[in-house]
Amino acid sequence: MTLPEAQQLAVKDAMPKHVAIIMDGNGRWAQQRGKLRMFGHQAGVKSVRRAVSFATQLGVKSLTLFAFSSENWRRPEEEVSSLMNLFLTVLQREVKKLKNNNVQLRIIGDTSRFSEKLQKRIAIAQNETATNDGLVLNIAANYGGRWDIVNASKQLAEQVKKGHLDAQDISEEHISALMDSDTVGDVDLLIRTGGDHRISNFLLWQTAYAELYFSDVLWPDFDEDAFGEAIAAFVSRERRFGCTGEQVQALLIDNQKNEDHFA
Ligand code: IPE
Ligand code: IPE
Ligand code: MG
Repeated sequence: MTLPEAQQLAVKDAMPKHVAIIMDGNGRWAQQRGKLRMFGHQAGVKSVRRAVSFATQLGVKSLTLFAFSSENWRRPEEEVSSLMNLFLTVLQREVKKLKNNNVQLRIIGDTSRFSEKLQKRIAIAQNETATNDGLVLNIAANYGGRWDIVNASKQLAEQVKKGHLDAQDISEEHISALMDSDTVGDVDLLIRTGGDHRISNFLLWQTAYAELYFSDVLWPDFDEDAFGEAIAAFVSRERRFGCTGEQVQALLIDNQKNEDHFA
């Protein structure tokens, strides 16, 4: 079969290497309890901790969490500023734990719109965990999939203008390498909690062949059981990457034979 090597590996892998989550439903979770929306965001932090620990246990290589979209600035000013404060507090509080648990933290998105204080905190947190080689935890903050593509396009245009690259030679690899989420890579499993069935401008480029999983569970309630169900659904699916089911089965049988041969 003529699948690129990365996709051959993805077909073979039962477990997702890269899981991305649209953590939705905090506001409704709080409202159902007669509380302010912020109460839901605070409860959502506990869920983040739980998801990071579960992903580590499962041996997932990277986990990308959508924390704040480029469209979320449209929310009431009070909610936006409370979210920024929460982000600041959580970064300060959790960085040591991440460091000790060998988690490498990366923030993706246009962080230039954040306060100086928050930008500094982000830089510190990234630096302190940079040499960790366990789970890569990407937090998407002021992130938008279209922004990411536009950003990469601007850089490509600059390269062409300077004569470093011929426009005709532009490839998928060039674009991938220039995106802020370049280090994020292709997503295997995209989960959205909260019951809505949309991407909301998350990782558009990187989810081209992701398996999509929608859960009705609101983010603060998304526990190991709910995460486990998403993983089980992924494991039961056949990823074909444009091939036929028969081709995929043949590839899996070939791989099995090779493994038996070298066992
Ligand atoms: C997701 O929860 C978290 C952020 C967007 C910051 P929401 O705040 O969107 O929760 P709902 O969708 O209103 O319930
Ligand atoms: C998506 O949730 C963004 C995050 C989870 C951070 P939203 O609640 O903002 O998405 P929409 O507006 O319902 O599409
Ligand atoms: Mg929402």
